[in-house]
Amino acid sequence: AVTRTFSIIKPDATRRNLTGAVTKMLEDAGLRVVASKRIRMTREQAEGFYAVHKERPFFGELVEFMTSGPVVVQVLEGEDAVKRNRDIMGATNPANAEPGTIRRELAESIEANSVHGSDSDENAAIEIAFFFQPDEIVG
Ligand code: CMP
Repeated sequence: AVTRTFSIIKPDATRRNLTGAVTKMLEDAGLRVVASKRIRMTREQAEGFYAVHKERPFFGELVEFMTSGPVVVQVLEGEDAVKRNRDIMGATNPANAEPGTIRRELAESIEANSVHGSDSDENAAIEIAFFFQPDEIVG
C-alpha cells in the first residue's frame, strides 16, 4: 500500500550541503517528498521528539547535535514507505550500513548519521504530526 513516513535530514548533512544529494537518493528509492521544510530545532522540540530516548546515555549529546544547525523535516510517500526509507537509509551506524545506502555513502558517525526515519507506521503518524499541519502536506 502507498503509505507515508517521516524523515529528517540532520545537521551534519545540511552543514555539508547534502540536502539535495540525500533527497535524490530518497527519490531514486521510489519515495516522493510530499512536505518539506528547513528549520532550526529548538531544544524543546528535540527533547520532545526524542523523548523515547530520554534515559539513554547519549540523550544529551543527541539533543545538542540535533539543535547544532539546520535540519530539513520531510514527509515521504510511497509504496511501503517506512520500510523503503529504512532500506535506503541503511543501519544506524554508518560502519554497519550496506554500500549504496545514505548512511554508508554520506554519514560521518553513529550520531552524525545524516538522516532519521520513522521505524513504524504508528510512529510515522506521530512524528509527522509533531512537525506538520495537515495543510502543509500536499500529496
Ligand atoms: P535516529 O534514528 O535519529 O534516532 C535516535 C538517534 O540516536 C539515532 O538516529 C542515532 O543518530 C543516535 N544514536 C544512537 N545510538 C547512539 C550512540 N551510541 N551514540 C550517539 N548517538 C546515538
